[in-house]
Amino acid sequence: MKTVAILISGQGSNMASLVRACRDEHWPARIAAVIANRAEAAGLEVARGLGVPVEVVAHTAHAGRESFDAALTERLDALGVDLVVLAGFMRILTEGFVSRFAGRLVNIHPSLLPAFPGLDTHARALAAGVRMHGATVHLVTPALDHGPILAQAAVPVLDGDDASTLAARVLAVEHRILPKAVRWLVEDRVRVSEGRAEVVGVPADERLLWEGGR
Ligand code: GAR
Repeated sequence: MKTVAILISGQGSNMASLVRACRDEHWPARIAAVIANRAEAAGLEVARGLGVPVEVVAHTAHAGRESFDAALTERLDALGVDLVVLAGFMRILTEGFVSRFAGRLVNIHPSLLPAFPGLDTHARALAAGVRMHGATVHLVTPALDHGPILAQAAVPVLDGDDASTLAARVLAVEHRILPKAVRWLVEDRVRVSEGRAEVVGVPADERLLWEGGR
């Protein structure tokens, strides 16, 4: 049985999809807590509604990243977590934190990495004129939005899209790939070699979701 913590900053829709999948599919895992870095994060109420314990570790209460990450680490250790999922967690973590949770820290990012790391991915994808956009679930390494890729989902960019219609199309597929990839970690299927992830017993096409196009 794995103990999982989910870190959020906002509305928590990826968190909710993960909690539901964990329960409905009877994973050998327990969601110990949803932790937000902002007391106003709407996802906290969603998590409470799902019956998951919630906590706030407010980044504003800390002078710097080191001290915030130390407080976060203290809570994660107290909960005895095996796996930490960043589900819309909008803070950059220190190298020390990332190394401590190496191999058990996973993030979802709203682009087809390595394209568009960082913020405002949907507007940047539109500005670049790409025909395909999407999301990536990856293990976290110290380089921002750069670790071994577990799963990706691609969606078309349609005529008339703006950043919000594109974001909504991407978010819908995020809800499908995040639970899948976290389940592989829970089941100890992930091996990393030379910066690339292998998922044992999972065919390559399970790791890619493609919606639309012809
Ligand atoms: C999601 O699109 C997620 O990929 C993104 O924030 C959104 C959170 O939505 N994460 C990042 O941009 C991380 N750099 P949610 O709160 O509804 O899950």
